[in-house]
Amino acid sequence: MRRKIVAGNWKMNKRFDEAEELISEIADIIDAQPLDEDIEMIICPPFLFLEMATDIASESEFHIGAQNVSEYDAGAYTGEVSAQMLNSIEVEYCIIGHSERRKYFAETDEVLATKINLALANEIEPIFCCGEVLSEREAKIHFDTVRTQIEKGLFHLSPEQFYNVVIAYEPIWAIGTGVVASPAQAQEMHAYIRGLIKEKYGAELAEDTTILYGGSCNADNATVLFSQPDVDGGLIGGASLKAKDFVQIARSF
Ligand code: PGA
Repeated sequence: MRRKIVAGNWKMNKRFDEAEELISEIADIIDAQPLDEDIEMIICPPFLFLEMATDIASESEFHIGAQNVSEYDAGAYTGEVSAQMLNSIEVEYCIIGHSERRKYFAETDEVLATKINLALANEIEPIFCCGEVLSEREAKIHFDTVRTQIEKGLFHLSPEQFYNVVIAYEPIWAIGTGVVASPAQAQEMHAYIRGLIKEKYGAELAEDTTILYGGSCNADNATVLFSQPDVDGGLIGGASLKAKDFVQIARSF
């Protein structure tokens, strides 16, 4: 179902005590003044903080996601965290295919497709990231880049599986740079992505798919971005590390 979602990607930030404080502060703010019922808030802290986060979330109105998951199911994979493990502590979402994972950890489209399968098999909804680098946009091949990422990462799924996927369009030139995509640039790409889904899975599923924008989205620019017809919310990095800003973004629809 198409939902309004604001998801916070904390990346590799915070110590345990700071993480607990930030989540508790977010919980306090939205408990005192709840979000509209049709808005879903997701917080994606590092693995180490997930269990603490799901405990606090169970008493509040937000959901917890991981930032990554192993491409392996179980067994001798030192240092990995599996989808089964995430499921066992009530993690509901997982960011898959973030550009930082693609770039620094050499995650290929094939690996990402495997991660998507494992997440779905363990009742975890993937937040699948796609987006182009600046030189691709300048060369006017950004639509091709995003199409390839989506085709290779997601289009092997059945319609029933695809129904549980959230997509995040994150132009890489906008991530952590303070250079946000214009509302028109975001809308153009989101409409394109929805068109791809329509071609593959039909109009109904395309209309039902939640497509988030990510990349320097903050409390000042969220309203205008979220007012675009095909922008269903945001994947927020830096601004999700400040409780008041993050909640304000979730109130920007
Ligand atoms: P940013 O990061 O909001 O700090 O640009 C977004 C992301 O990487 O998901």
